[in-house]
Amino acid sequence: MNQADFSSYEKSCFVYRDNKPERLTIRNYREDDIEALIRIQRECFPPPYPSELWWNREQLLNHLRRFPQGMLCAEIGGAVVGSLTTMIASIDLTAPDRLRHTWAEMTDNGYIGTHAPDGNTLYVVDIGVSPSARGLGLGKQMLQAAYELVVELGLDRLLGGARMPGYGRAAAELTPEEYVEAVLSGERRDPVVGFLLRCGRLPVAVARDYLDDEESAGCALLMEWRNPFRHSADVRPDAFPL
Ligand SMILES: CC(C)(COP(=O)(O)OP(=O)(O)OC[C@H]1O[C@@H](n2cnc3c(N)ncnc32)[C@H](O)[C@@H]1OP(=O)(O)O)[C@@H](O)C(=O)NCCC(=O)NCCS
Repeated sequence: MNQADFSSYEKSCFVYRDNKPERLTIRNYREDDIEALIRIQRECFPPPYPSELWWNREQLLNHLRRFPQGMLCAEIGGAVVGSLTTMIASIDLTAPDRLRHTWAEMTDNGYIGTHAPDGNTLYVVDIGVSPSARGLGLGKQMLQAAYELVVELGLDRLLGGARMPGYGRAAAELTPEEYVEAVLSGERRDPVVGFLLRCGRLPVAVARDYLDDEESAGCALLMEWRNPFRHSADVRPDAFPL
């Protein structure tokens, strides 16, 4: 898809830092943002996260070529401080095989060669906010923009594998499902799963060996946001009923 062939996204609002309003813009990222996007990755995923998994220029150029509409960033005071990358996939949530995927096979190792324009699901490839801008609501605003894209494109849902960085330390005593149940009952806190629950996402299932992510013991929690205007047939009975 050519950059000129899609309706670009741009939204401004205010967020509060130390009780002072600051103007935030959520917009599609562009080629001249690439350097900032790679810096944000470095800041967001420090060791032990493998540096080979940080974005490289070729991946970001592929994103812009294949699905520019799905590439979002957050800008404050002229600086890009967060990004959210998505692609479209065909996913039937009642098919257990489709749930047992890895990040690498779903996203073509982050190059999104697997992007399927005719699919039904907006799949989150990555989200990150620079530590200097966390807790201001940027992650939530970027996800809100992605939910709006789900509605705009008439897709069934947004889905993504949430890292579970608190699980690695608990892995000797709990299965990943038990850990998620403990997070859902409020006994344990997880920074990423907790963030996504607050952003309106629902837990679907645990994916094992999802990503080479020591803090999460390789696991991820697949979490969805359903398009409230569509009632798809493949709604999976809640794996984690409350
Ligand atoms: C996860 C991340 C994107 C959150 O971004 P953020 O901009 O700081 O989050 P927001 O300020 O939008 O927070 C939205 C909500 O989540 C909550 N939240 C944010 N960080 C949280 C945390 N560490 N633990 C629990 N809740 C959290 C906020 O309190 C807020 O709740 P509210 O809406 O009820 O007030 C950011 O911490 C990050 O980049 N982490 C490292 C990269 C990463 O692991 N990405 C996830 C890949 S799956």
